[in-house]
Amino acid sequence: MSNEIEQIKDPGLPAHVHRQTDSDPIAAQRAERQVAILFGLSAVGTLLLIYSYIFVKDSVFIFIPVLGNTNAQQLGLGMGMAIALFCIGAGAIHWAKTLMPDEEVIAHRHEFRSEDEDRAEFVKTVKAGASAAGLGRRPLIKRTLGAALGLSALTPLLLLRDLGPLPKDDLTKTSWKAGTRLVTDPGDRPIRPEDLEVGAVAQTLPELAEGEERTLNNIGKDAVLLIRLRPEEFNLDAERLSWTHEGIIAFSKICSHMGCAVALYEQQTKHLLCPCHQSTFDVTRAAKVIFGPAARPLPQLAITVDADGYLVAQQPFTEPVGPSFWERSS
Ligand code: FES
Repeated sequence: MSNEIEQIKDPGLPAHVHRQTDSDPIAAQRAERQVAILFGLSAVGTLLLIYSYIFVKDSVFIFIPVLGNTNAQQLGLGMGMAIALFCIGAGAIHWAKTLMPDEEVIAHRHEFRSEDEDRAEFVKTVKAGASAAGLGRRPLIKRTLGAALGLSALTPLLLLRDLGPLPKDDLTKTSWKAGTRLVTDPGDRPIRPEDLEVGAVAQTLPELAEGEERTLNNIGKDAVLLIRLRPEEFNLDAERLSWTHEGIIAFSKICSHMGCAVALYEQQTKHLLCPCHQSTFDVTRAAKVIFGPAARPLPQLAITVDADGYLVAQQPFTEPVGPSFWERSS
């Protein structure tokens, strides 16, 4: 038949050199163990990645002579993924080079759909190839390959989960509560109104309770900008005015467009600007959007002072901080 796979018998080709594993059962067993070890190491790599993601805190740093102070979680994730991917690839290559059928053949090609007879022949050949690969006879390889492939399928899930906070759920929860002091970032010093001059801006975070730690996720969500104006410069309704204190107003620092840090304040115009897509917010009007793609104002944090005269939150944020596309229904 024209589509037959035939052994090459071309006298012009050099003789095919067979591998040791084709004729030596001990060498074949050794290769099988090596492949299994590589697949096993791949599974260990994925487990390391999962362990680092769940159990290693992103605030923990370890010293490594060549790398210096290194984030332990990032190191675990990177090493886990590298081991998992390298070993599964190396195992597959080693398996193919040492144990899979090693024959040189001619496969005749057709331009259009093959005859039914030829297709049936193809299926037969594939089945024969699968059988020759020895999956049935090599349960150790089959099991370790299954474990390695199964675990590696979890990696994309972890990476997707790590793209950012879950919508809504996460963005409605910040560390701000009634009575939480505003502290400088960096420095963690409580702030009194008199620490801010008119026209000044300060980046702040919520004061940590005993035993609490800052995480990267929380720092992003909790960051608040304090700005001091003259009280008569505000153009706010009574409720929003009551959320200010002696001309000091507080907004979430995360842009309501795509979540960049709103970092520029124009003292003359009293505008806050987001550097990513130029959304501009009017501080005198509760961060109303006056330019750019942001769809809603920056959430305002209600502030006052406590009995010791330090600035504190009156209540948590009353709306989710950050990008607003999570809230849109269409
Ligand atoms: S993220 Fe701020 S304008 Fe786009």
